[in-house]
Amino acid sequence: MYCNIATVLALLCTLQACIAVPQSDHGNDALNLIYQFPNLTALENVAVRFSGKLLVTLPTAPELYQVDPFHPVNASLVYRFPNATALLGIAEIDHDVFAVVVGTVNPPNPVPGSFSVWRVDMRQFETREDGSVVRKATARIITAIPEGALLNGLIRLPGTPFILVADSGLGVVWRVHTKTAAYTQVLASELMRPPPEGGVLGVNGIRIFGGALYFTNTLQGLFGRVAIRVHGPGAGTAAGEYTVVARNGRADDFAFDARGNAYVAQNFDNGIQLITPRGEVSVIAGAKNSTVLESDAACAFGRTPRDRDTLYVVTSGGLSETIPGTYREGGKIVAVHVDKLGIPTGNGRRSSVVDGGWEL
Ligand SMILES: *[C@@H]1O[C@H](CO)[C@@H](O)[C@H](O)[C@H]1NC(C)=O
Ligand SMILES: *[C@@H]1O[C@H](CO)[C@@H](O)[C@H](O)[C@H]1NC(C)=O
Ligand SMILES: *[C@@H]1O[C@H](CO)[C@@H](O)[C@H](O)[C@H]1NC(C)=O
Ligand SMILES: *[C@@H]1O[C@H](CO)[C@@H](O)[C@H](O)[C@H]1NC(C)=O
Repeated sequence: MYCNIATVLALLCTLQACIAVPQSDHGNDALNLIYQFPNLTALENVAVRFSGKLLVTLPTAPELYQVDPFHPVNASLVYRFPNATALLGIAEIDHDVFAVVVGTVNPPNPVPGSFSVWRVDMRQFETREDGSVVRKATARIITAIPEGALLNGLIRLPGTPFILVADSGLGVVWRVHTKTAAYTQVLASELMRPPPEGGVLGVNGIRIFGGALYFTNTLQGLFGRVAIRVHGPGAGTAAGEYTVVARNGRADDFAFDARGNAYVAQNFDNGIQLITPRGEVSVIAGAKNSTVLESDAACAFGRTPRDRDTLYVVTSGGLSETIPGTYREGGKIVAVHVDKLGIPTGNGRRSSVVDGGWEL
């Protein structure tokens, strides 16, 4: 079934924008380069539209781009946000409407108090075959969160008007009402804080699976879990203890498959980890000294029948750390065909996927 996609991508690789991915890591066709941005442009996060098109955020410019993974001829600029330098988390909050974290970073330091959450409406957005934009998307601010230190991962709280936003600097999760703009802290824990030694990267990626919120804490090097209330006025608050699922090392955003396996972008260690529901950790793509997934920052499963076993991984091309003996490169979107790695996702049995992971 994926031969078709592989063939299409192989043909598209005659375009200048598509550079062949070295296959040495796996010796098979489980990985495909979809698109590479220019040097020094990094990618931070990814969300998938119902059409299958990818929306990627940049930490190096206040810009949101669309790339069509089935026809990756060019990246289309969706929106450039005013008075900011970086975009971080992104998630669908309504049909083809997305919430995005916007803020200012003086590399490598985020500016506390500069972060806000915006709403981007993709319903009118239209591009030509070459990726050029025919009709623009519209965007407006939901709210600034001046108390925030470093807003980062963002998810929808399913079945509610709320989004949850990880604050990596404070080690908390904010809940924002997408209509009234009211916001409040709903989660806070030692397991979400940056380590006592310092740094601003505590809780980073967040996802919900089976009534619990899972999170990476980048500098504490752990993958954690807390049961949460999913309805009512207390939606998003803790309904149990915060626990460590795995001590998996420094990691960034992640996605779930339908079986509850987490696919974790390692960033500093340049790979994708698989963390099973029992907490077993393995690296399934990329490697410490490989540029194939260099400083990968996030991933999301495709949403169409053709690509729901395909994990789209976005990289920042050595932004966090370059691999010894190599140089910065443009951020990439790489398709990891999880089925070809022999990992059953269970995704085929479900008809819809949101927020880059399965919600059950
Ligand atoms: C591709 O997109 C970039 C950035 O939006 C633009 O500058 C460039 O002209 C586009 N190239 C083609 C061939 O459309
Ligand atoms: C631009 O952002 C900075 C930093 O967040 C803020 O202090 C300033 O008020 C903003 N200016 C405008 C015009 O919004
Ligand atoms: C990565 O490269 C560094 C420097 O060349 C080397 O010291 C290290 O052992 C390598 N790590 C792995 C896992 O290959
Ligand atoms: C990217 O830019 C950096 C800084 O100018 C440079 O050192 C590096 O060689 C460039 N990488 C590529 C792949 O051209």
